[in-house]
Amino acid sequence: MSKAYVNTDRKGAVAVIRLDNPPVNALGHGLRLGIASALKAAEEDAGVKAVVLVGNGRCFSAGADITEFGKPLQSPNLADLIMAIEASPKPVVAAIHGTTLGGGLELALSCHARVAAKDAKLGLPEIKLGILPGAGGTQRVPRLIGAEKALKMITSGDMMPAEEAKASGLVNEVAGDLVDAAAKLAEALADSGDLPRVRDMSVPGDRDTFDKAAAALTGRGRVLPAAKACVDAIKAAIEMPFDKGLAYEYELFKQLVSSDESKAQRHVFFAERNAAKVADMPADTQAKPVSSAAVIGAGTMGGGITMSFANAGIPVTLIETTDAALKRGLDTILANYKRSGRTPQAEIDRRMGLITPTLDIEKAAGADIVIEAVFEEMEIKKEIFGKLDRIAKPGAVLATNTSYLDVNAISAMTKRPADVLGMHFFSPANVMKLLEIVRGKATSHATLATAIAVGRKIGKVPVIVGVCDGFVGNRMLGARLKATEQLLLEGALPHEIDAAATSFGFAMGPLAVSDLAGLDIGMRARRARGVRAAVADAITDAGRYGQKNGKGYYRYDEADKRKPIPDPDVEKIIVEASEKLGIKRRQISQEEIIQRLNYPMINEGAKILEEGIAQRPSDIDVIWVYGYGWPAWRGGPMHHADQMGLKTIRDWLAEQARKSGDASLNPAPVLDRLAREGRGFASAS
Ligand code: CAA
Repeated sequence: MSKAYVNTDRKGAVAVIRLDNPPVNALGHGLRLGIASALKAAEEDAGVKAVVLVGNGRCFSAGADITEFGKPLQSPNLADLIMAIEASPKPVVAAIHGTTLGGGLELALSCHARVAAKDAKLGLPEIKLGILPGAGGTQRVPRLIGAEKALKMITSGDMMPAEEAKASGLVNEVAGDLVDAAAKLAEALADSGDLPRVRDMSVPGDRDTFDKAAAALTGRGRVLPAAKACVDAIKAAIEMPFDKGLAYEYELFKQLVSSDESKAQRHVFFAERNAAKVADMPADTQAKPVSSAAVIGAGTMGGGITMSFANAGIPVTLIETTDAALKRGLDTILANYKRSGRTPQAEIDRRMGLITPTLDIEKAAGADIVIEAVFEEMEIKKEIFGKLDRIAKPGAVLATNTSYLDVNAISAMTKRPADVLGMHFFSPANVMKLLEIVRGKATSHATLATAIAVGRKIGKVPVIVGVCDGFVGNRMLGARLKATEQLLLEGALPHEIDAAATSFGFAMGPLAVSDLAGLDIGMRARRARGVRAAVADAITDAGRYGQKNGKGYYRYDEADKRKPIPDPDVEKIIVEASEKLGIKRRQISQEEIIQRLNYPMINEGAKILEEGIAQRPSDIDVIWVYGYGWPAWRGGPMHHADQMGLKTIRDWLAEQARKSGDASLNPAPVLDRLAREGRGFASAS
């Protein structure tokens, strides 16, 4: 039987058209066709006075079907449907619940009125996909809520809760009994003969205020094409007649949707959703219920992880070994909550109240999930897992936050390795969204499913990875750090390397990031592996540990402790290191720096894929976008590689390996094979 997409029922003289395209009522061709036919039938039915549009399932509609972008349009397109609704001789009222986004909101805006459920959230998130609302959003929203508010809504992509939408004029009513209220309003409109259309309104608000807000947006830093287009389209709403503005918006939409930036951002959207899908996990795998957590270690990582649980309303026991460490940890958590200035005191109190500090590890017994976040020392971790095996309740998930140690060796300390895995958070753990979930050889599907569900609940983007030194992110970072060290030795200075990285789109360059993270951490990791790095070692030998002591690859002033300032002392250290190794320094171009930072890392990514440490190339992209600041509009390293062409990268690596004698730069076999076949990583996933 073919899928229905909509079903219609009646409430008296009102036809209720229900959108039925799970899971999010994306407005694909079938649903568009279904709505258009149901509307036509209602118009032709003499017994119908008015129409209500409502979504079945969890939301009204999450917008256009993103999978259709870039493919030939099938009629009716969204714009046609929207015109048909607006032109209906019978009033149409949208009854909105859940997330009403993008084209879904634009559909609602073409209706003659809108009623929202209390849980409704309205937004135009297109900017996050590198496009602009292309079905009238930039023209209708300013007419309803004013150009300045529309600018904020459209360029942030943020969602507006129902009550705020009512207050600003985006919806007419907020109601408990959604369909009833919408039907009543629809009937009242029919009785009054009134067919209000947003297109007939003019844009309220002060032009000057809008211009200032627009200039502030386009005047700072890198402005992506989508942001500029949003501003231009809203200007058109103010300046042009409605139909001209609409045509202009659509022109901009067509340009953006075929841009590399938008393709990359759409890639990241789907990559994020695929990253937690486990190829061999049976569909009926159930996550275990988690209503309490314990975190062992109140240092920077443990504190951030604890905050993530408290933020999500999950009670968490924070375990330390000394009063002083526990107090320091709690003080830092409190200071972090206060720092943003955005969390009301009552909310801070509530979150702090969810944290139970203790010096007694036996208290981990009550937790459904225990996360160990102590020093990166195998022996300490093994000891803790031995204890947890004795203490933790049966079935509890036992996770280590190690960033490179062998999860299998840790789980072997327990008699329940199926319950053990890695949950690798990124610093600051209360802010960074990436969560590498490290699957050990004995980790059960239920344990994996639980970690994924918990990760999502605490606002993270989980990605499944396998066990190896550094897992995915840090292993590739290792390749980039090695390249950075070599660049410094051959002639580049820290600010030149960082400038190249920021020109590529990173918010921060690798050396500024190292200073932020603390150079002593890298030093310890190198020592543990017996690795030497002439420049990095000389910098830490000189007592330069990064921002924490005001000097690292840069120096930092009291006036702004976070602003890196190039330091002649560092240049001296670097030049001496080059001299000691007999390397003649030279000027290195920005283009070369970018290649040398990115391509070895991509090669490492290819090896990671080959070894099955990452399930898909797009998982690697998610890791770099959410954990390491890779610009989403460049889609992640593997997507970028596909865009550059794998042959270009393979040839570059082969040449570098030949010139430098560094075997790690030899192209990975999978990269070589795909390049020879003229294919990209995406085709191999
Ligand atoms: N098109 C196609 N598929 C979509 C989709 C869309 N707009 N929105 C969500 N999906 C898919 C997801 O890919 C996912 O599929 P799988 O289960 O196969 O992985 C499924 O629906 C469920 O999505 P989530 O896992 O994200 O569910 P969630 O409950 O966590 O989040 C959501 C729901 C908030 C709606 C989120 O999916 C979301 O933000 N969706 C995108 C919304 C968006 O960007 N809309 C604008 C589209 S562009 C547009 O409308 C242009 C225009 O102006 C004409």
